[in-house]
Amino acid sequence: MSRQFRIAPSILSANFAKLGQEVTDVIASGADIIHFDVMDNHYVPNLTIGPLVCESLRPVTDAIIDVHLMVKPVDRIIPDFAKAGANIITFHPEASEHIDRTLSLIRECGCKAGLVFNPATSLSYLDYVMDKVDMILLMSVNPGFGGQKFIPETLNKTRAVRQRIDASGRDIWLEVDGGVKVDNIAEVARAGADVFVAGSAIFGAARDSDAHRYDSVVAAMRAELAKA
Ligand code: DX5
Ligand code: ZN
Repeated sequence: MSRQFRIAPSILSANFAKLGQEVTDVIASGADIIHFDVMDNHYVPNLTIGPLVCESLRPVTDAIIDVHLMVKPVDRIIPDFAKAGANIITFHPEASEHIDRTLSLIRECGCKAGLVFNPATSLSYLDYVMDKVDMILLMSVNPGFGGQKFIPETLNKTRAVRQRIDASGRDIWLEVDGGVKVDNIAEVARAGADVFVAGSAIFGAARDSDAHRYDSVVAAMRAELAKA
């Protein structure tokens, strides 16, 4: 079965002084999804952006906005992101008191729902909710910061999740997040991922204002994926 590969730039590494233009330009370069990292200085030791920024970006692009919640508690912010135009909302199961309830809440708000696993978080959280997830996000770094090094042990975990998804018979997207670059994206794809988050590898590639500044890095990732 051939998988469709999707590239999801993380705007965490974008130039926040011109975020709308960054989103427009990176999607024009051939990327598929905007990965939106939400950090609360509580669940993770960093603080980023919330629903207001999502709402501001919504009219700028038709691309899927994939909201990665690194917040605790989770539930009370979900309706705000849905209203702000998020398409996918994922959360870390250890940050939710009631995982089944949180997954249902996301879908009730009209979004696709997903669970996020840190490198050392057990996949057993999936045991009773496979029918309630549309996406599984595997962290290949510990969450909180862009620009970290890919943890190679997560490749085995990616293979394990790919098996679980295939056994489920459902169209669940498998996203890998952290340290993904041109030189390892094919390996991540071969392990079973189909959505590739890349922050520093894409937005760190250029700092000038040429609208085509991301074309070459996105094309290089696509070329690697074609070989996978
Ligand atoms: C880390 C975030 C990632 C991060 C990825 O907590 O979830 O999305 O921005 O950045 P890179 O691609 O630079 O590792
Ligand atoms: Zn992320």
